[in-house]
Amino acid sequence: MKSKTLAVPAVALGTWAWGDSGEPGDGYFGSELSESGLREVVEKAHSNGFTLWDTAVAYGMGRSETVLAQALKGYDRSEYQLSTKFTPQIAGDGDDPVADMLEESLDRLSTDYVDLFWIHNPADVARWTPSLIPLLTSGKIKHVGVSNHNLEEIALADQILGEAGFRVEAVQNHYSLLYRSSERAGVLDYCREHDVPFFAYMVLEQGALTGRYGPTNPLPEGSSRAAVYNGVLPRLRALTDRMKAIGEDRNASAADVATAWAIAKGTTPIVGVTKAAYIDGLVRARGIELTTKEIAELEALADASGVDTRGWWEQEM
Ligand SMILES: NC(=O)c1ccc[n+]([C@@H]2O[C@H](COP(=O)([O-])OP(=O)(O)OC[C@H]3O[C@@H](n4cnc5c(N)ncnc54)[C@H](OP(=O)(O)O)[C@@H]3O)[C@@H](O)[C@H]2O)c1
Repeated sequence: MKSKTLAVPAVALGTWAWGDSGEPGDGYFGSELSESGLREVVEKAHSNGFTLWDTAVAYGMGRSETVLAQALKGYDRSEYQLSTKFTPQIAGDGDDPVADMLEESLDRLSTDYVDLFWIHNPADVARWTPSLIPLLTSGKIKHVGVSNHNLEEIALADQILGEAGFRVEAVQNHYSLLYRSSERAGVLDYCREHDVPFFAYMVLEQGALTGRYGPTNPLPEGSSRAAVYNGVLPRLRALTDRMKAIGEDRNASAADVATAWAIAKGTTPIVGVTKAAYIDGLVRARGIELTTKEIAELEALADASGVDTRGWWEQEM
């Protein structure tokens, strides 16, 4: 009954920022994004072998999915993989809200299947997980994963899917140098032991861990991420400076080192790509091997910053 194993890339591509209007300073990210710029991102990503695109209806209430489909126009559906999500908090009141939300996503994404479909967060695992089964059976979704679920919730979802011959095939949680709760709670170990790929989101803490932003060059004024991170940027300086120095030896940036750290920890980072040049960073990150000493040093600096970046939508693992 199971379709073939999920193919896992070194890095997946995130498109939350693509749900913004594209106007500078407007929306969650406030970055300036244009249709032609995002098309360049797609071209460069594909030519470098990065082809798994992560989105969600919740990113700009459908806009990210629509903009992504536009940017992917002209590519054969077999050349890329789509990952999108069912978000329980915005479920409709029909008989099958999961199927309904998927149908709307398929429509916006101009496709008849998604490669990887997630329950976005664990509002009620026993209620929502069974709705994935008919979608897997019909082939509208090829693989399933759970996001922001803790160990107990992952195990329950896996049990529910297991009764129908399926399984939780992937886990997607916030995981960065500054936010390692999945590691501390044993979620990473669980994934390793059960051969379940762990997708790490926000490894760059929405730009705050790239070293590009600081008190004199803050995140875009008026954006939600500015409200979350601008106040803590001075406390991140020691960490981003060290990442920059580690990167310099390898002709790489602090952002590349943050991504390489997530790869070194056995995860698949989902990196939010807003500029074509960032794809070069992913190519470099894919090739960086951090030493055990460097990893320990970066984690110690992250801990010493005392910065907690748990998202407002996240629970402690
Ligand atoms: N399941 C969930 O609940 C959940 C939650 C959050 C995110 N996600 C997924 O994970 C993805 C990644 O998270 P995110 O986009 O929120 O944040 P992120 O990947 O931590 O950071 C993305 C931001 O970092 C900057 N950036 C990216 N690459 C860079 C590079 N090489 N050099 C310098 N700066 C770089 C860009 O900012 P500028 O545009 O300012 O340059 C970009 O908007 C999302 O897009 C989404 O697909 C899932």
